[in-house]
Amino acid sequence: MVPSLGVIGLGQMAQALVEPLLSSKACSADQVLAVVGTAATAESLRQGAFEAVSIHPSDRSEAQQVWSAPVQLLAIKPQQIDRIAAAAPTVDNHPLLVSVLAGVSLARLQRLFPGHRVVRAVPNTPALVGEGLTALAWGEALSSEQKLQVRALFAGVSEVLELPEAKLDAFLALTSSGPAFVAMMAEAMADGAVAAGLPRDLAHRLAHRTLAGTAALLDQRQLHPATLKDMVTSPGGTTIAGVRALERAGARSAFMEAVIAAAERSRGLA
Ligand SMILES: NC(=O)c1ccc[n+]([C@@H]2O[C@H](COP(=O)([O-])OP(=O)(O)OC[C@H]3O[C@@H](n4cnc5c(N)ncnc54)[C@H](OP(=O)(O)O)[C@@H]3O)[C@@H](O)[C@H]2O)c1
Repeated sequence: MVPSLGVIGLGQMAQALVEPLLSSKACSADQVLAVVGTAATAESLRQGAFEAVSIHPSDRSEAQQVWSAPVQLLAIKPQQIDRIAAAAPTVDNHPLLVSVLAGVSLARLQRLFPGHRVVRAVPNTPALVGEGLTALAWGEALSSEQKLQVRALFAGVSEVLELPEAKLDAFLALTSSGPAFVAMMAEAMADGAVAAGLPRDLAHRLAHRTLAGTAALLDQRQLHPATLKDMVTSPGGTTIAGVRALERAGARSAFMEAVIAAAERSRGLA
């Protein structure tokens, strides 16, 4: 049977995308065929949510069926792409290839997979808990049905935006690298709370809840960040004392520079 969805690399990111398709019944397990690197990975994946999915290690002949699916999700590590493209059969029926690989351009995808219609997707790690953001950049000549299929692939775990490819580096710097910057902020704030006397576990939990609650408030009330900051800084109070310490340490500039550095690195990798 020809699978409807072929998954090349069922790692963290592909699992986060495919699992909600299965649980929402948007796709049944027997319509999915996945390829992974090793037999051990295939075996361990057959235990949980992917029990009924056909999963083959890449060196088995059955793995080649993945290239017959009309929609193919490419979710291997970027450095593996040349080897995997070289092993793919030539096709002329224009199946859809959706790549989540960081730093692999549409032009390179199209060169490596000449018979495919290609799309670049930039999902971020919060997709693992259904709170992601995904940017899509379309390749040439996709049908409107293929575009719908791509949007549906990511809609279960993320908000989906469509951007010109030239904007993906800045998008990635903010949304894919951003979770690391925010995690560093959470860690540092928890350390500060420990220094000020809170137990470590409580400090971490409160730091996470403070970040999540603040993000929800900014988002749901559509507040500018400066408005929220002004709302909680009373004259001569505790918060303005902390804001002064942050400004003295150059925190605002450090965050700007972090995002710019990530975008420049992303351009460099491509
Ligand atoms: N994780 C994220 O948050 C995130 C966010 C944005 C973009 N991405 C992109 O998503 C891609 C995958 O990242 P990931 O974190 O999901 O990586 P991962 O967990 O390491 O998954 C990679 C998968 O590829 C499989 N694989 C290895 N060799 C293969 C081969 N020859 N043929 C087919 N499959 C093979 C691996 O199987 P084995 O384990 O058996 O080797 C594994 O299932 C990366 O290119 C990354 O840039 C990830």
